[in-house]
Amino acid sequence: MEESIFQPYLGNRAIFKMDREILRPSYIPERLPHREAHIGQLAQVLVPALKGERPSNVLIFGKTGTGKTAVVKYIENEIKKADAARLVHYLYLNCEIVDTPYGVLQGIGNKFIENFNQRIPFTGLSTDRVYSLLVEKLDEERRIVVIVLDEIDKIVLKSGDDILYQLLKINDDLSRARVSLIGISNDLKFTEYLDPRVRSRLSDEKMVFPPYNAEELFDILLERSKLAFDNGTAPDAVLSLIAALAAQEHGDARRALDLLRVSAELAERQGDDHIGEEHVMRAKNKIELDTVIEAVKSLPTQSKLILLGILLNEELGNSKLTTGEVYTTYRELCRKTGVAPLTQRRVTDLISELDMLGLVHARVKSFGRAGRTKEIQASVPLLDVKKILEKDEVLAELRGYRLRVQTTLM
Ligand SMILES: Nc1ncnc2c1ncn2[C@@H]1O[C@H](COP(=O)(O)OP(=O)(O)OP(=O)(O)O)[C@@H](O)[C@H]1O
Ligand SMILES: [Mg+2]
Repeated sequence: MEESIFQPYLGNRAIFKMDREILRPSYIPERLPHREAHIGQLAQVLVPALKGERPSNVLIFGKTGTGKTAVVKYIENEIKKADAARLVHYLYLNCEIVDTPYGVLQGIGNKFIENFNQRIPFTGLSTDRVYSLLVEKLDEERRIVVIVLDEIDKIVLKSGDDILYQLLKINDDLSRARVSLIGISNDLKFTEYLDPRVRSRLSDEKMVFPPYNAEELFDILLERSKLAFDNGTAPDAVLSLIAALAAQEHGDARRALDLLRVSAELAERQGDDHIGEEHVMRAKNKIELDTVIEAVKSLPTQSKLILLGILLNEELGNSKLTTGEVYTTYRELCRKTGVAPLTQRRVTDLISELDMLGLVHARVKSFGRAGRTKEIQASVPLLDVKKILEKDEVLAELRGYRLRVQTTLM
């Protein structure tokens, strides 16, 4: 083989037995430990479909990483296996991707149109027209259509609940086909945005997926690592540690699997033949930093200025600031960059948002003569985040800037 830049690494023992995709969120495992009861419950709701009857609508709630998407995709395979008569059409749509009423109707309609030339176009028709095309298509045969709307809260927040209303009453316009809905949301409060009629129809049945505890996460990790690694690559002690860490943060299986994958990648890169606790701790830091960096990158400019101001103060040794001090620094940075400053009230709101994102820590300190004051502190690594902020075009002016005014009172 010719000499190449990859040469030194090619000899490393591959730590992944098969595809590393096995640890990625898109992989659908054949078994879902600790979701047997939920799968059974859903099967019970859906079984009428196999007999040509319309199942109840279902609303599934649960925090992120509790297996909602995995379970509905698993059910899809099971239905295919059981549905010898080909009566049931099980359609999965992610409303974060297809996020308009037109897109949803078009997406469903096109699943029933085989001839490419007759497909409903991406734009150009009225939503009403797409709806009638859909009704016409669906009703060509006697069939049961189960539509899974994953991340249903996203479309409701963006376009309101008209689309749900339309899909819920589509059965009135059908004579042969029957439609049921399965809605999925990780926002428990989302039904508050729904019209009461939509809410009650959509939630014939309600299911809640609880967060996984450490033991459950351990089983999920064990199951998956048997597929991904050779024996001994991911020792039980390591899986326990990962499970414990992920359980501390709201029992998210995606988080646990990410941690396992990144730990394995770090071990592999180092040429180690098994994952150790030190890889896990490094993976945890790496993932946390990546998350912070993503959050910082997507902040609006005004919030970036506020955060940078807090960090520049920290650089001078003032790590705990009052709202007034943050505002003074923010005004200075606005002047320097030519950004029109917001009012102190608005800046206070943005500080609360930064707090909610976990980027700063703001706590009420005193009720002195000046009223209630907050103590604000960055909770992100100074240098890494400063570097990211300075990449913003507007903030580029501030590269290497040091605060002019001393904001703390002497
Ligand atoms: N019981 C389980 N057994 C095996 N793997 C699981 C289980 N539950 C979840 N997973 C895995 O964890 C990851 C996250 O699960 P999933 O995507 O289903 O979460 P979710 O509840 O849909 O979260 P979100 O609300 O963020 O969409 C996926 O990779 C999935 O395969
Ligand atoms: Mg999901």
